Amino acid sequence: MGRQQALQQFGDKISLPSLPDVVMRINAMIDDPNVGLQEMGALVAQDPAVTARVLRLANSGYYGLSQQVTNAEQAATVLGARALRNVVMQVSILKRYEHLRNIPDFDLDEVWQHSTLTAQIAQAMAESCYQRTGLAPDDFYACGLLHDVGKVVMLEGLDEEYLECVRHARRTAVAVHVSEEQLLGYTHVDVGALLAQQWQLPDKVAAAIEFHHGPTSEIVANPHVAVIAICDQIAYRAGSSTFETALEKLATLANKLLGLQRAEFDKVVERARSFQPDSFD
Ligand SMILES: [Fe+2]
Ligand SMILES: [Fe+2]
Repeated sequence: MGRQQALQQFGDKISLPSLPDVVMRINAMIDDPNVGLQEMGALVAQDPAVTARVLRLANSGYYGLSQQVTNAEQAATVLGARALRNVVMQVSILKRYEHLRNIPDFDLDEVWQHSTLTAQIAQAMAESCYQRTGLAPDDFYACGLLHDVGKVVMLEGLDEEYLECVRHARRTAVAVHVSEEQLLGYTHVDVGALLAQQWQLPDKVAAAIEFHHGPTSEIVANPHVAVIAICDQIAYRAGSSTFETALEKLATLANKLLGLQRAEFDKVVERARSFQPDSFD
């Protein structure tokens, strides 16, 4: 069976999640010149979980404020519209898949932590190479957040069949996308691409999700794909015994494909080293 046919069967079997309602509303607000950040903050304020996260982010060291922000409206003006949308999206997706949290053989928290780390360092890397990518750092955060979401969608849709992919990857020491390809004939990047289409994500965001595991020709030809492919590897290897060796290769790649100087690359890596996993509660 070919990839398209296998994917088609998957699509028939499950219903892809729709873009969370609140994200849709924020997107509409971003597109409306008559709506300001205060109004977006007011929308966010209706949800305590989102508000808590927005406040935590606005008061984090990243924004370096001298005074604490105490409500969602203020936080919205600190973060800006796109970063606000990212937080809303993150909280909504986490909530949507909460029921998959305690499944043996699948560590959902690990997937979210890896995605968050990829998002953070992709955003940091993008700040140094905006000229080449033409995509805002906040949009790279969204790419990082969503690049592996296909795994979670597949787990929900396929259940045991997907868990077997995860176990097979562990048993045979191959990457999960390789195992998915071997057992199912398509991977989480294919499913991520379907989702990106359904959610009408910008083309560059969709491509970064679809090609983060290659082919190399796509990574070499598209700087926005290269950012996510490189940051995925940094995040994946952070803390492992192969980290330092991998860094040398990745630094060379980042220089070649993105024009990133070693000092800029090291700053991104520093961020990966000091990453504090969220509790995701
Ligand atoms: Fe992946
Ligand atoms: Fe990944």
